Amino acid sequence: MIEYLLVFGGKGGVGKSSISSATAVKVSDLLPNKKILLISFDIAHNLTDLFGIKIGNNITPIKDNLWAIEPDPHIYAEKYTKEFAEKSRKLMKMTPIVNLIPKLEEYIDNTFNADSIPIALKNAIFFQQILDAEDTTQNLQFDIIICDFPPTANMVALFEIPEDHVKGIMKYSLRIISEIRKAMQKFTKAAKFLFPFGRGSTEERKGLVEELLEMLNEIEERGERIADLIKNYGSLRLVSIAEKPSYEEIKRAYELTQKYINTDGIHINMLIPEDAADHCNFCKNKRQKQQKYIKQIEQEFKNLKIWKSNSLGIEPIGIDGLRTLADEIYSSINDVNEILNPFKKEK
Ligand SMILES: Nc1ncnc2c1ncn2[C@@H]1O[C@H](COP(=O)(O)OP(=O)(O)OP(=O)(O)O)[C@@H](O)[C@H]1O
Ligand SMILES: [Mg+2]
Repeated sequence: MIEYLLVFGGKGGVGKSSISSATAVKVSDLLPNKKILLISFDIAHNLTDLFGIKIGNNITPIKDNLWAIEPDPHIYAEKYTKEFAEKSRKLMKMTPIVNLIPKLEEYIDNTFNADSIPIALKNAIFFQQILDAEDTTQNLQFDIIICDFPPTANMVALFEIPEDHVKGIMKYSLRIISEIRKAMQKFTKAAKFLFPFGRGSTEERKGLVEELLEMLNEIEERGERIADLIKNYGSLRLVSIAEKPSYEEIKRAYELTQKYINTDGIHINMLIPEDAADHCNFCKNKRQKQQKYIKQIEQEFKNLKIWKSNSLGIEPIGIDGLRTLADEIYSSINDVNEILNPFKKEK
């Protein structure tokens, strides 16, 4: 059963992947008895580079209680569309007259094709499958899921799961099939006599229609379950640097995601350390500008948790590098709940 779903978003290059990975390492260190999964939702995956471990499209162990995955959403979309297309085609072949319309089969082949699904939707399909406990094929149930999201526009698309239009396309196609079948009904008897191409019994066909409808219902129910899960367990953390474009972007991201997920905190990353500003004029000026934006961010998001992290002298890569970054971000925190649920919200 998922207890927490932490999602990290923000502008490109501000440290979303580093901070989500560092958080995953920190939480897994503090909670050895919980199972934690880190997911990259950015097609330009970089968890492999951050951890120095080949991750890819399989749930890959990172340490005792931490796993990671860089899903290939195309594979998930293909599984999804293939089954539906196959059943529709089979149904058509079994239906007299309808089986003689070549264009219809072509339409099904072109519509239920993973290539025709935009990347955001493919990701949504994957997101649904991994979050939906009943759909877990890998026999791993995770307590905490941490997501590294793509920059804002694609992040918002990921949340629009219930309005999923794959579902729409499927329903539309099913309606076309059923209308053609209806129109052909009166000719069916003659057709059977003239063109004995329709195969399978009425019972078999009925069974297939039911299976197709069931698939559609499942998609709909799953969409609702996922939306509820995100609403109840999700916690968005927006990552920014102390500069105008990045700050403007988190303001927009906050507005755009409000109806889907609760935002708990803001990370202000890559700050110039105070002692560096003592020795370098450039750093001093930059630090002064950063302080101005820190104030604005704190003012704008005064109801949220603010975590600040300096720019490190080392590259925060590998488990140890990520631990160093986690210490920089969460230095004063010993209670994991301050990270997972800073406002102690009831679930
Ligand atoms: N606090 C920090 N100190 C030093 N380097 C950092 C820090 N945070 C992030 N970095 C470095 O900054 C670069 C960008 O970070 P990261 O890849 O995590 O950003 P991102 O927001 O995920 O980028 P993208 O939008 O491209 O996915 C990386 O090289 C990372 O190692
Ligand atoms: Mg990234």
